[in-house]
Amino acid sequence: MVARTYLALSAALFSVSLAQSNNTTAIIDAFSSLGLTSFALAASALNGSSAGQALLETVLSGGNYSILAPNNDAFSQASSLASDSTLLTDTLAYHILRGSFTNSDSSSLNLTSASSPNHTIGRSMLNDSAYVSLEGNASQVVAWTTESNKLVFLNQPSNISIVNSTRINGTGLDVYVIDGVLSIPASISSVLANGTNTSSIAGLLNSTMIPSANGTNDTIGNILNSQKGITLFAPSDSAFSTVSSSLPTLEGNLTVFTTVLQNHIINGSSVYSTEIVSGSNLTSAAGEPLTFLTNSSGTYVTSGSTTAKILTTDMIAMNGVVHVIDNVFLNTDSDSSAASSAYESATSVATKLATETGAISATATAASSTSSSSSGSGSSNGAEATSVGFSLYTTFSAVVVSFVILGGLL
Ligand SMILES: *[C@@H]1O[C@H](CO)[C@@H](O)[C@H](O)[C@H]1NC(C)=O
Ligand SMILES: *[C@@H]1O[C@H](CO)[C@@H](O)[C@H](O)[C@H]1NC(C)=O
Ligand SMILES: *[C@@H]1O[C@H](CO)[C@@H](O)[C@H](O)[C@H]1NC(C)=O
Ligand SMILES: *[C@@H]1O[C@H](CO)[C@@H](O)[C@H](O)[C@H]1NC(C)=O
Ligand SMILES: *[C@@H]1O[C@H](CO)[C@@H](O)[C@H](O)[C@H]1NC(C)=O
Ligand SMILES: *[C@@H]1O[C@H](CO)[C@@H](O)[C@H](O)[C@H]1NC(C)=O
Ligand SMILES: *[C@@H]1O[C@H](CO)[C@@H](O)[C@H](O)[C@H]1NC(C)=O
Ligand SMILES: *[C@@H]1O[C@H](CO)[C@@H](O)[C@H](O)[C@H]1NC(C)=O
Ligand SMILES: *[C@@H]1O[C@H](CO)[C@@H](O)[C@H](O)[C@H]1NC(C)=O
Ligand SMILES: *[C@@H]1O[C@H](CO)[C@@H](O)[C@H](O)[C@H]1NC(C)=O
Ligand SMILES: *[C@@H]1O[C@H](CO)[C@@H](O)[C@H](O)[C@H]1NC(C)=O
Ligand SMILES: *[C@@H]1O[C@H](CO)[C@@H](O)[C@H](O)[C@H]1NC(C)=O
Repeated sequence: MVARTYLALSAALFSVSLAQSNNTTAIIDAFSSLGLTSFALAASALNGSSAGQALLETVLSGGNYSILAPNNDAFSQASSLASDSTLLTDTLAYHILRGSFTNSDSSSLNLTSASSPNHTIGRSMLNDSAYVSLEGNASQVVAWTTESNKLVFLNQPSNISIVNSTRINGTGLDVYVIDGVLSIPASISSVLANGTNTSSIAGLLNSTMIPSANGTNDTIGNILNSQKGITLFAPSDSAFSTVSSSLPTLEGNLTVFTTVLQNHIINGSSVYSTEIVSGSNLTSAAGEPLTFLTNSSGTYVTSGSTTAKILTTDMIAMNGVVHVIDNVFLNTDSDSSAASSAYESATSVATKLATETGAISATATAASSTSSSSSGSGSSNGAEATSVGFSLYTTFSAVVVSFVILGGLL
């Protein structure tokens, strides 16, 4: 592990003042004068594509943005970006957060961060459908936390720190210089395959074939990847081994198996940890409530008669988010009308995500909360359950499952 250094040079503000805020040349000059010559070069390259120009114009046409600007060393490690203008544009877009995330006074500019285990979630400018497919065509999020006084960006293959910060006068741009290039989140199946405690569910979803909505047979993993806005409560590896004796009962009945799986999923809504409200409930893809409780020992989620502790939150995926839990919900109840109305409701509130700025929270995003303690829309969300009628032949011991295909999952 590379040691992380946090050199917040709060006094080292720059005398960069822009005559006008909507001037691409000026902004690129400003980054150069901050020593961020590679970032400036990358930003200039945006002018070469219409998507890049649109990004620049949006950011420069007013409003507050927080730019996580990789320094020159960081860019030199990310040579693959130079040869792929789409990836470059999308990667830069992922480094631009909508809104100001600082509680700065005149002498310091810090990226606000909740202390671990709590996270801060910010909506970026990345919404190219090649790299993100969230509900309401929302842009992808960046998640971070503070551990031992160090800011940590989550879901990154290596540690990335903030090494400097400044606000560019004449603009709404807060610039945080970082010493790495953030990776764009991968598919749910890749996130699970790469997770430290999720290889069982990754294997299960990757090896289980069912028909997709278009009639072709596909793995559950691919079908989940193809949905817009998924929250998956993923049982950990040890959770799977604990219930291994119960699993054979499920094996012969795919209706039951699918319902159990749907009770781990919220369809049509990416619910981040900051949107989980103790005492509230959300509707699963089977139409059953997932109820949440936070106490001094952690946050718990209940489905049916089973309560699980949430072990890891905010594994961000291309089309949603995964939270790892320490139990399998063997909940075979379902309510398809509750699932449909929750899904419709989630879809309608998701349109609001396009204008979201600042840290994502339960109060900022009415989309995710059905809490009675919330004064928001009170709308529920969740997934549409479709009728399933297929039979199943599985061997859970090897986490290898094959279905005879007659229905759909979501
Ligand atoms: C901002 O960062 C500086 C330097 O690390 C620190 O001394 C200061 O307390 C931080 N301010 C806030 C509001 O977090
Ligand atoms: C930004 O502008 C304000 C007001 O014009 C000025 O007081 C401040 O010194 C400027 N800051 C920098 C870093 O240029
Ligand atoms: C944009 O800024 C550059 C300096 O960075 C300046 O030379 C140019 O005149 C500006 N353009 C407009 C249209 O203001
Ligand atoms: C900035 O420039 C873009 C495109 O040139 C334009 O659409 C936008 O209205 C401008 N914004 C401001 C605040 O002048
Ligand atoms: C995390 O958030 C919860 C709920 O808001 C709060 O009770 C708890 O004190 C926070 N923990 C830390 C370490 O800030
Ligand atoms: C998986 O993790 C490795 C090591 O942390 C990392 O290099 C790789 O980029 C990750 N892959 C994905 C798809 O997240
Ligand atoms: C922070 O920015 C100042 C001013 O450009 C520069 O002198 C300093 O080297 C930077 N520090 C780091 C750690 O990049
Ligand atoms: C899915 O399984 C295939 C073949 O077994 C394997 O090549 C692939 O890496 C797996 N993908 C994931 C995401 O686990
Ligand atoms: C899907 O798989 C089933 C079971 O193997 C098979 O009978 C069916 O023909 C397949 N459907 C398609 C479209 O390939
Ligand atoms: C059918 O849908 C699946 C998602 O489940 C997708 O992976 C596959 O590419 C689609 N096939 C066609 C021919 O559209
Ligand atoms: C599957 O389970 C459901 C609910 O218990 C039951 O109604 C159905 O008959 C079962 N199907 C098979 C093929 O056993
Ligand atoms: C879920 O929340 C709704 C709205 O607050 C409430 O009416 C309902 O009783 C809750 N259901 C459960 C099972 O907690």
